[in-house]
Amino acid sequence: MAENKAISQNEYLSLSSEIMSVRKRGEVPLAYVRTYGCQQNVADSERIKGMLDKAGFSFTESVDDADFILFNTCAVREHAEDRVFGNVGALKNIKRKHPSVIIALCGCMMEQEHVAKRIQDSFPFVSLVFGTNCLHEFPRLLYNTLLYGKRTFLRGNTDENVYEGIPIKRDGLFKGFLPIMYGCDNFCSYCIVPYVRGREKSRRPEVVIKEAREMIEAGYKDICLLGQNVNSYGKGLDPRPNFSTLLKEIDKIEGDYILRFMTSHPKDCTKELIDTIAQSKHISHHLHLPFQSGSNRILELMNRRYTREKYLDIINYAKERIPDLSLTSDIIVGFPGETYDDFKETLSLIKEVEFTSLFTFIYSRRKGTPAATMPDVATDDEKSAWFKELLKTQEEIAAKRCENMVGSTQKVLVEEKSSNKEGILSGRTNGNIIVEFAGDESLIGSFKNIKITKARNWILNGELVKE
Ligand code: SAH
Ligand code: SF4
Ligand code: F3S
Repeated sequence: MAENKAISQNEYLSLSSEIMSVRKRGEVPLAYVRTYGCQQNVADSERIKGMLDKAGFSFTESVDDADFILFNTCAVREHAEDRVFGNVGALKNIKRKHPSVIIALCGCMMEQEHVAKRIQDSFPFVSLVFGTNCLHEFPRLLYNTLLYGKRTFLRGNTDENVYEGIPIKRDGLFKGFLPIMYGCDNFCSYCIVPYVRGREKSRRPEVVIKEAREMIEAGYKDICLLGQNVNSYGKGLDPRPNFSTLLKEIDKIEGDYILRFMTSHPKDCTKELIDTIAQSKHISHHLHLPFQSGSNRILELMNRRYTREKYLDIINYAKERIPDLSLTSDIIVGFPGETYDDFKETLSLIKEVEFTSLFTFIYSRRKGTPAATMPDVATDDEKSAWFKELLKTQEEIAAKRCENMVGSTQKVLVEEKSSNKEGILSGRTNGNIIVEFAGDESLIGSFKNIKITKARNWILNGELVKE
């Protein structure tokens, strides 16, 4: 393929725009971008949309209308992958109906050799595949695909550089993600992320702070800093900044906004971080601290590198320093070798901590990870029964926590109209709990004080406080 390395990525976008303009005879070309997986993928898709926007594309929610279709995929559990394969398979008909449509796949699944091979062999209508570390190359890949129509696969990139200046088209107008680092070095034994996202790399603090300032100036009220393990932010940078210092710097920016972050890893979660939250003006009183299992034996097999005791130690310190702290966590049920006794340790931990909500998953075997070859003892039926027991226990805890908030007044960021109740708006408290109340939609995007009148499981009902 003839390539000119001297052409900048921006020029590739202009050239792509020209090609599409000729192809569509001046009509605006349409792109359909679908994102699976976590916030990191959402943030990547916002950058891809930023580049497509610069290449002259508008966006559609319908694959039938699209000239360019992209699925940004997730590999974290088998179920996520099956959904992607099912939906990609369905695109075959679209390609048959509209042969000129370009179908592209990117994201975490594409970084697995066996997936790329399956796409190569069994999905010939997919023209472009690119991995998680090649976003900055997307303009060139798009241009080459449009011009030459040749199938292109670019993946397995071990580039250590962090590329800045990629345009962004954010999905939200007042809530936004701000990636501070990419990749993961932790290698928890069940997890595919370190293999598909590569080694940890941090963005420079001044770049992050500048982007935060721009978001606040543009009216963003809820900014979520992203990384697989934000507590190890700064590794590899010289001088090495730490996460608490970064938070303190952003917190200094004037404005009415909430600063969130995810995800914190308990092994690196320091008392300094908790103190920073306690002393800050803007940082949310919400800590998402995944513990995965309450059993030390399982935590060791998971290679999590903390114990139940260390986890509880930091949680207790956080509760002491921030009395209105809302805690959430991720849990895996049915890790290889887990017994009912281990699972009971998880149950006792959630009862002790009293989380606001939990993200619970049944273990999914990921090819190439150490846990995939560990012997298992529990059956699928047993795992489902444990899972149900976990959900039921957490429902009671969440209901109690929400009940305790009745009568309090909460500052709520008003987010949207309720999808099924006329005249009702929904928003989130500083601790990230959903609140519904009657109000006019002109309030969307602003902070309002809401008096909590009722708790329904994990959703609160309230009334606008007159100002
Ligand atoms: N970096 C984050 C989590 C990213 S993945 C952290 O360490 O907390 C999000 C969640 O998916 C994990 O916390 C874990 O609970 C779950 N998960 C990851 N791999 C999984 C697997 N193989 N099976 C089931 N759940 C998994
Ligand atoms: Fe996966 Fe562990 Fe990294 Fe989180 S910290 S992404 S669970 S390897
Ligand atoms: Fe999925 Fe990749 Fe995120 S595997 S959970 S989209 S980092």
